[in-house]
Parts: sequence; C-alpha cells; structure tokens
Amino acid sequence: MGRVGLGVAAGCAAATCAIAAALVARRASARARWRRAVALLREFEDGCATPTPRLRQVVDAMVVEMHAGLASDGGSKLKMLLTFVDALPAGNEQGTYYSIDLGGTNFRVLRVEVAAGSVVTSRKVEETIPEELTKGTIEELFNFVAMTLKEFVETEDGKDEQRVLGFTFSFPVRQTSVSSGSLIRWTKGFLIEDAVGKDVAQCLNEALARSGLNVRVTALVNDTVGTLALGHYYDEDTVAAVIIGAGTNACYIERTDAIIKCQGLLTNSGGMVVNMEWGNFWSSHLPRTPYDISLDDETQNRNDQGFKKMISGIYLGEIARLVLHRMALESDIFGDAAADLSIPFTLSTPLLAAIRKDDSPDLSEVRRILQEHLKIPDTPLKTRRLVVKVCDIVTRRAARLAACWYCRDTEKAWPGWERRGFKRENARAAEADGGCDRGWPV
Ligand code: BGC
Repeated sequence: MGRVGLGVAAGCAAATCAIAAALVARRASARARWRRAVALLREFEDGCATPTPRLRQVVDAMVVEMHAGLASDGGSKLKMLLTFVDALPAGNEQGTYYSIDLGGTNFRVLRVEVAAGSVVTSRKVEETIPEELTKGTIEELFNFVAMTLKEFVETEDGKDEQRVLGFTFSFPVRQTSVSSGSLIRWTKGFLIEDAVGKDVAQCLNEALARSGLNVRVTALVNDTVGTLALGHYYDEDTVAAVIIGAGTNACYIERTDAIIKCQGLLTNSGGMVVNMEWGNFWSSHLPRTPYDISLDDETQNRNDQGFKKMISGIYLGEIARLVLHRMALESDIFGDAAADLSIPFTLSTPLLAAIRKDDSPDLSEVRRILQEHLKIPDTPLKTRRLVVKVCDIVTRRAARLAACWYCRDTEKAWPGWERRGFKRENARAAEADGGCDRGWPV
C-alpha cells in the first residue's frame, strides 16, 4: 500500500473512531437523561407515599378537625354543615317524585317512582349547562333550569298538577331548614357572584313561578346527602356517603348532642346528617409534593381545598401533567415535541384514567393519547410505561386518601359513630373501586 493509501486508511479509522465516540457519548447522555426521568419518578413516588401509619395520622387529624367544626362555625377548615335531615328513607316510602340535580357542568331532571323497596328513574333528561350561564346571574341560571323542567313536565299528563321537587345542589350551603339555605360559595368553576349568600331554594322557586310551573322545592340537599338517602333506603345500616367526582365530599349521621355549635337543637331521631365539605380538609400529614404546590399556585383558590386538590377529578390529570412536564424539561424523554405538556390542564382526568386502564401489551392506548392529545409522537414502550407509572402514583395516592377515613378504628374514632353502623363489605368495595387493591385499610 502506498503513502496515499495509508493516509486514507488512517483518516477512515480516525473518522470511525470519532463517530463511534460520538455515538457512545450520545448513548451515555441518553442513558443519563433516562436515569434523570427515573429519578424524578422515584422522588414523586416517595413524596406520594401513603403507608398505613401516615393514613392513620391523616384520619386522626380529620377527626380533630371534625370535632372543631362541630364545636363552632369557623372553628375548622371542615365546615361540618347542618342539613336539617334528621330522618332518612327506610325503604317503605312510595310515590312519584321530581328532582333536579345541579352540581357540575351537567344538570339532570328526573322523575323517580318509589315503591315497595325499589327506586326507579322513570324519566331523565340531562343537559350541559352553557359555559356563560356558570358566570352570569343566578336568575339566568335558574331560568334555564326552570325552562328545562317545564319542557320535561309539559310532555306529561296532568301538567298543571302540583308537583314536589327535590333539589340536589352540590355546593356548600348553610341550611336554615330542610328546604332552604344560603350559598356559602361556588366551587367547580361556577362564579355567579350575586348568588352568594342567597337562599338558593327560594331563587329556584322564584324561577319556577316565573316560568308558570306549579312546582315547589320541598327538599334542598347536597349530593352527598342524596347519596346517603338512597343508600339508607336500600340498607338501614348505611351511615355515611362519599362523593368522588369532579369535586369530593362526605356526609354522615351525627348525634345531635355532639353538634356543640347548635346546642339545644332537638330532632326526633336524636341525630342529624352533617355535610362535612371535606374537600377543604388540610393536615400537614397529607403527602404533599412540589407538584401539588405548583398546582395550588395555578388555582384561584390558593391554600384552599387542599384535600380536594389531591383526590378529586378536576385535578388528578393536572398533577400527572406537571410531573410529565418536569420530566420532559429535565430528561428530554419525550423528544422535542412535548410543547403541549406545558399547557395547564391538557391532560384531563378521564385521559389519565384511560392511560391507567390500558392493559394492551404495547400500551397502544397510551401511545394514542400521547399522540392525539399531547402531540407527542413515537414514544418507545419504556417511556409509555413511565407515563402509566406516573398516572398510577397519582390515582393510587388519591384512592388511598379517599378511602382512609374508613379504617379499623373509624367506628371508635369518629364523633357520634355508631359501631353497628358500617358494613365492612361496602368499605372493601369502595376501596377496590378506588384502586386501593393491596388490602389496606380494612
Ligand atoms: C362541593 C360539595 C359537593 C362536592 C361533590 C364540592 O366541590 O363543595 O358541596 O358535595 O363538590 O359534588
């Protein structure tokens, strides 16, 4: 081989070495980025941990707050609102009842037939509340509700007969009787300022009258109370109800003598349903991560509704998005196309649930969601697995916190709790539904 040939060979070898070195370096840096993503995942998982002793501390803190809320108005972040419901259906009620359920973006009008141990919804209309009505005036919102009820009733026989109406209104209300109460504040994105402090049942009655309907609100209840009533109708041992939806809340039957803030209150049964408004519960024992703090900073009600921000449907997707966004920034695992991860609330909770449910071997649903909703194409399987894991951590913490109020000692711990009152099988079912599948706490 001549000089030139040698030179070319040496040049090729050097170039090959350089390319190989670049490849090795690139791989090493990809490995380092992946390690960073995994480290963030582990950190998040540790921050969300809910071991049993911690859950017991959360429950103890909740009991302390419950006592404080029962002792005086404003005594606790838990409002412990009186409902004036001192008796619950026993299963032998009969009749045809109308009901309006308003408490989120959808509202429902129902006709319910109650007879001989069964409750059957014989008609139901569901409407989405136009966005502008959630920010307008109470008159506009309730006119819309009344007109929908009017259309519902007008298709029935005896449309002019008097009808009684149950109004499920799933916002915090300070009740003055079972059929009246003033709105304390809006939640779930509603902002109708002129309604705050007003009697919502009276406002609805006025709208019903304006629309010419012969219908009056005879019961104003929170959705937790409606749920408890139905549970009690089927099983008299039911003593508490929990809602875990866009918002979250719980109510239970309390002894009136334990409700110190209304001393002298007498009821025939000696008990009353208390609406806890537990979304606002807070305790330093709750497992709070930097992502929860960022989420809180994004909201208009900072330092409020702490429990709700960890367990309710409005926020779970957003917590996962915040984690994935930080991973995208610090590890580059989603490549260059992760810009949509920086947009608040792009990952909704239904998407998070779909990600968690994907049991296909190649996580094809996760791939689809990443592509279609977050504009992240071509993720490798291991990245999709990481995304599932993030969603799993968020939902698992939420499920365990939502279920922790029922633990072995609950019957003793909760004020006024009656030992005979709670069915363990029900608690187990709730726990399994919520994803607490590893046997705690029952
Ligand atoms: C409301 C509660 C309601 C819960 C579930 C919360 O935002 O404040 O009154 O029970 O959502 O719908």
